[in-house]
Amino acid sequence: MPLVSLIDMYNPANKQRYAIGQFNVNKMEFVQAVMEAAEETKSPAILAASTSALKYGGFDYLINLVKTGAEKVSVPIALHLDHGASIEDAQKCIEAGFTSVMIDASHESFEENMRITKEVVKIAHPRNIAVEAELGRLGGIEDDVKVEEREAFLTDPDQAVEFVEKTKCDALAVAVGTSHGAYKFKGKAKLAFDRIDQIKKKTGIPLVLHGASGVSPDLIERATKYGAELPGAKGVPDEAYSEAIKLGINKINIDTDLRLGWLGTVREELARNPKVIDPRKILGPARETVKQIIIEKMKIFGSAGKA
Ligand code: G3H
Ligand code: 13P
Ligand code: ZN
Repeated sequence: MPLVSLIDMYNPANKQRYAIGQFNVNKMEFVQAVMEAAEETKSPAILAASTSALKYGGFDYLINLVKTGAEKVSVPIALHLDHGASIEDAQKCIEAGFTSVMIDASHESFEENMRITKEVVKIAHPRNIAVEAELGRLGGIEDDVKVEEREAFLTDPDQAVEFVEKTKCDALAVAVGTSHGAYKFKGKAKLAFDRIDQIKKKTGIPLVLHGASGVSPDLIERATKYGAELPGAKGVPDEAYSEAIKLGINKINIDTDLRLGWLGTVREELARNPKVIDPRKILGPARETVKQIIIEKMKIFGSAGKA
């Protein structure tokens, strides 16, 4: 079916307390992996492209891959701009057919973040396109950090209320202790669940968990066995997803896990088949690994069976 607005996908997820997975894509095999996983699990799915993914894949190439894939499946698919850096970037994506955009002005002052977000909402809403904004700074919660420092980074629930009321954004990315990439926690994984709870109770809006990859020991072990060097890699444990969803997270962003699955399989296939020349023999199994990782996430996030 044609791409679906994320606005329409958020409502049931928020009411029924499940999360839709955002899976970052930058090439054909990743797009195919998400589509197949979504169709097989009867799950809605969000395919996201960052600015650098659009540059790598080619703006039109990548968008049309996603549009083509969505047409081939019977489940709702949204195309989302991940971490849009400017009003112009967001506008370009809206005009090109994205059904959701993130405007990430979280590094700006609170007032400026609101101003920029409002501008994007003004462009997006008349076309029923969803807008995600971010408040707070993503980053791990370290044990040796003072309480005040911790507070300064995490999303403030009262600010969140004002931000949501004034900007009319459709979803809010919250800083609750996660960070992007494969090295999220030095010691035990720690998420500020109390913050998720407070922000949800005060705003009621769909909340987004960035930096949410699991970085499971299995993924690390496989990649490492075939030569990758990833000492200290650590991510979000499965139990944390369930708790976060129960408290109000409705969108969970996954990029690193797909990269790690891809990496491990490509390394293993190359190591095991030194005579292989055909890239399909390497990339086909990697696509399958990525698909299986996505299927697992859809089941854990509770979106499986919801389409
Ligand atoms: O949030 C960051 C995403 O993982 C995208 O990363 O800018 O390298 O495509 P990227
Ligand atoms: P990970 O790096 O944990 O996969 O997070 C991805 C993300 O938040 C994309 O916006
Ligand atoms: Zn992110």
